[in-house]
Amino acid sequence: MRRIAMLGSGFIGRFYADSIEGQRSKDKIISIYARKEENAKKFAADYKCDHWTTNMEEAIAHPDVDVVCIALPNYVHADAVMLCCKHKKAVVTTKPLGRNGAEALQMMKAVEEAGIFNGYLEDLVYAPKFLKAYESVKNGALGRILWAKSRETHPGPHSDWFWNIELAGGGCILDLGCHCIEITRTFIGKDIRPVEVMCWADTQVKPIDAEDHAIGLIKYENGAIGQFEVSWAFRGGMDLRDEVMGTEGTIWINNFLRTGMDMFTTGKGADYVAEKAESNTGWLFPVGDEVNDLGYNHMFTEMFNCIENGTDPRETFYDGYVVNAIIDAAYKSAKTKLWEPVQLEVWRGKEGVTKQSTLVDYDVDHYLIKEEVTHYGAKKVVIKHKQTGKIVERIIE
Ligand SMILES: NC(=O)c1ccc[n+]([C@@H]2O[C@H](COP(=O)([O-])OP(=O)(O)OC[C@H]3O[C@@H](n4cnc5c(N)ncnc54)[C@H](O)[C@@H]3O)[C@@H](O)[C@H]2O)c1
Repeated sequence: MRRIAMLGSGFIGRFYADSIEGQRSKDKIISIYARKEENAKKFAADYKCDHWTTNMEEAIAHPDVDVVCIALPNYVHADAVMLCCKHKKAVVTTKPLGRNGAEALQMMKAVEEAGIFNGYLEDLVYAPKFLKAYESVKNGALGRILWAKSRETHPGPHSDWFWNIELAGGGCILDLGCHCIEITRTFIGKDIRPVEVMCWADTQVKPIDAEDHAIGLIKYENGAIGQFEVSWAFRGGMDLRDEVMGTEGTIWINNFLRTGMDMFTTGKGADYVAEKAESNTGWLFPVGDEVNDLGYNHMFTEMFNCIENGTDPRETFYDGYVVNAIIDAAYKSAKTKLWEPVQLEVWRGKEGVTKQSTLVDYDVDHYLIKEEVTHYGAKKVVIKHKQTGKIVERIIE
């Protein structure tokens, strides 16, 4: 059983609490910190939490607390982490780890020097559909991964601080791109170095200083490409989709809209549908179990198991730091309109990886380019001569 201090009683704090205390869970939030007394009290009442406080250090230092869960705005993550280091408490932190790479690096170094457990709460690499897809990728069902793409777009976040570039650290690239980057990075291989980033970003709709729309490409050392598509101005709900393309196969995942449950209602008795759903009438796409389908259950199960077993979770502060470093390069590229290098002061993956050859021999003299059965019944091959480079096609049946 884990005894948790939850820092933050807002949107994600409550999703986390629903997961941590869901079903027949033994884990318990025993202390809640919120800035406002009424919010702390309400959360404590809702989750039958013994201790509430408006003093963050008091929640962290509570003698019965053995893990701290940070569910605070981006600009408070670093201060909260430093207090966990001071009190030597295991810490799990929501995304993004920092507002930029430098802040994330400082947090990573602090927890490692303090020798405390650290987990990065990137729920979307724990979503059941992601986990299933990732198993197939790891088993080689898709061959060499060439291109991994992830999209998170919605009509914009729910609290004021997100829209303030100083407090949030960025716009939708930081807020949503952090998910997409970790999803695509995991499919490509977290031990493969992200080399450079090309990004377009713009403020298309909202009256803000940060970007509300962006598309980026991340080049990896093995030649694979990661792609993120993010928006705070998308209409129609929350669009969470991933695509993985490899030499042997393809996976498409739709996590939130059109997931297999379609419903029509005139609006009579209409209620909450799903996160960021823009309507509760007409044709709707409810999500069966958001807490599970977004990965929170699998994420906390792994985090808490790792604390108990003394092992590292699949997502640590190091991963949060790499994601922040990639985002820094994306912001730079959006300004310079050039490919910008990913600056990683700390890199723990492979070095000097080259593009793996996937040439297929057709016969001793030729490589196979393509084989196809046409609609008129012919079986064709397109082949390339190994010495001359000449490309020819042959009908073989
Ligand atoms: N899927 C996800 O992983 C996911 C989803 C949403 C938000 N988040 C992240 O969770 C964090 C919190 O976002 P949220 O959506 O819950 O925000 P929110 O505004 O709904 O809640 C934030 C909470 O922090 C408190 N707070 C605000 N300012 C504070 C301050 N200066 N000091 C201390 N407490 C303060 C608020 O009172 C509130 O309880 C952010 O880092 C965000 O990126 C993650």
